[in-house]
Amino acid sequence: MQDEMPITRTYSPIARTLHWITVAAVFLMIPVGLTMTYRGNVLNIWDGLTNGLYSAHKLTGFLLLWLMAGRLAYRLLHGAPPDEPTLAWWQKAASHLVHWLLYGLLLVVPLLGWIGVSLFPALTIFDLFDLPALARPNEEAAKRVLDIHGKLALATGALALMHIGAALHHRLILKDGVMRRMLPWVR
Ligand code: HEM
Ligand code: HEM
Repeated sequence: MQDEMPITRTYSPIARTLHWITVAAVFLMIPVGLTMTYRGNVLNIWDGLTNGLYSAHKLTGFLLLWLMAGRLAYRLLHGAPPDEPTLAWWQKAASHLVHWLLYGLLLVVPLLGWIGVSLFPALTIFDLFDLPALARPNEEAAKRVLDIHGKLALATGALALMHIGAALHHRLILKDGVMRRMLPWVR
């Protein structure tokens, strides 16, 4: 008779791939966002580099929005492996809260960026094509929306740092199996 299959406690290869693509994109988006606004708004340098950084930021963020929509759909359809059994109730609650906040922010932040550049309007990508417009031009509203976009993006970064800190704490101090669930090379 065949042995019972062990319960898999790692995220599926698709979930892990989507997680690590998200990590790479977020690690790129935040420094590029800060650099381009510093060059443009603080130093007032509007050269090819500044414009190129804006285009790269808009395009990557736009693609990340769709990736996150797909990732959320995948997550809702396929669920996640059961929590590490060693976790206390509050650790489970806190990690679930942070994960869902990250999902929400990674949809709201790029959406606000897209609405902001529609209102501005500044939809061009490398002068090659325009993103579709989501709203009619209104520069005042654009400034407000992009201001919220920037603040929520920094909140996302802060939350991601807490999340990374927790992952490292589990790996290096508690030495439990939490980090292993998301490592790309496991099984
Ligand atoms: C998850 C995706 C995104 C992240 C993490 C992100 C992050 C950031 C950050 C950190 C800034 C700088 C804020 C500041 O200087 O205070 C910024 C600015 C900006 N982002 Fe994004 N962004 C994302 C997606 C997008 C998208 C999809 C668009 C447009 C299609 C966009 C358009 C902009 C624009 C136009 C600015 C400049 C705002 C200004 O001049 O005040 N972003 N973003
Ligand atoms: C070095 C960086 C990172 C490490 C080591 C890491 C590690 C992990 C681990 C181990 C889990 C599974 C936790 C569990 O099963 O309870 C996880 C889940 C998750 N991570 Fe990360 N992470 C990193 C960066 C990020 C970043 C930058 C984001 C987004 C801004 C992010 C978003 C998420 C989300 C949304 C989940 C929940 C997945 C789900 O249940 O569907 N992670 N991460």
